[in-house]
Amino acid sequence: MALLIDGKKISAEIKEETKAKVAALKEQGREITLAVIQVGNDPASSVYVGNKKKACEYVGIRSLSYELEETISEEELLELIVKLNKDDTVDGILVQLPLPKHINEDKVIETIDSKKDVDGFHPMNVGALSIGRKGMISCTPYGVIQLLKRSGIEIEGKECVVVGRSNIVGKPMSLLLLRENGTVTVAHSRTKDLKEVTKRADILVVAIGKPKFITAEYVKEGAVVIDVGIHRNENNKLCGDVDFDDVVDKVSAITPVPGGVGPMTIAMLMNNCVEGVTL
Ligand code: GUN
Repeated sequence: MALLIDGKKISAEIKEETKAKVAALKEQGREITLAVIQVGNDPASSVYVGNKKKACEYVGIRSLSYELEETISEEELLELIVKLNKDDTVDGILVQLPLPKHINEDKVIETIDSKKDVDGFHPMNVGALSIGRKGMISCTPYGVIQLLKRSGIEIEGKECVVVGRSNIVGKPMSLLLLRENGTVTVAHSRTKDLKEVTKRADILVVAIGKPKFITAEYVKEGAVVIDVGIHRNENNKLCGDVDFDDVVDKVSAITPVPGGVGPMTIAMLMNNCVEGVTL
């Protein structure tokens, strides 16, 4: 039987740990504040932002909510970020992505003070990760590392294959696995003979955004499979990038969807809000 890596349980543990740290800081008179900015009212973004604010409330982080019109100019958004950068009572700044087309996302991310960049998207933080310095780490891949460590899965010396090379997941994921002394391969949509590459993996992390793409023939017997994808199938049921039912009997451990990687992202965001204060 494959081990089901329980993201619900592990994310709850991390939130409890964060809650205790937040309470200890509060005892010392230090309150943690996260500014959450949403531009427009994309329904999916509203759900994510709502969940982030709820998590803040749960762990005791004060959240400031900025709900901006879809038509706000780039300049006005940048001005708000500059104001929050200067505000010593604000510890973290999160701008929910995607942004409307007339706003340059890179410019927005680069305007956030890297020390307040709880998403870990700022080039300073990405650079710090790539050269082994301290910095804010992108929440989803950081959560995957926590899932592995807290499930007793060793990374050191393992063949790790990451499928997907996005700035938010694939690239930082590969750097984090490398930092943990894994032997890392990054595969992507142009990889030749993907099956041959993924079958080498002791630890396979899949973030390609294609429902049930990874079937048993992509996976080595006994591998650990981490599924970052989340989709709704034709019956409105959630599924991942991995065909769970097809691979579950072949692997030694796997994350379910839902209840695997998903809940880790917000838990690590809460963690980053506290970690940022002590960096
Ligand atoms: N949009 C989708 N995922 C994320 C995330 O992790 N952070 C932000 N800021 N926006 C997102």
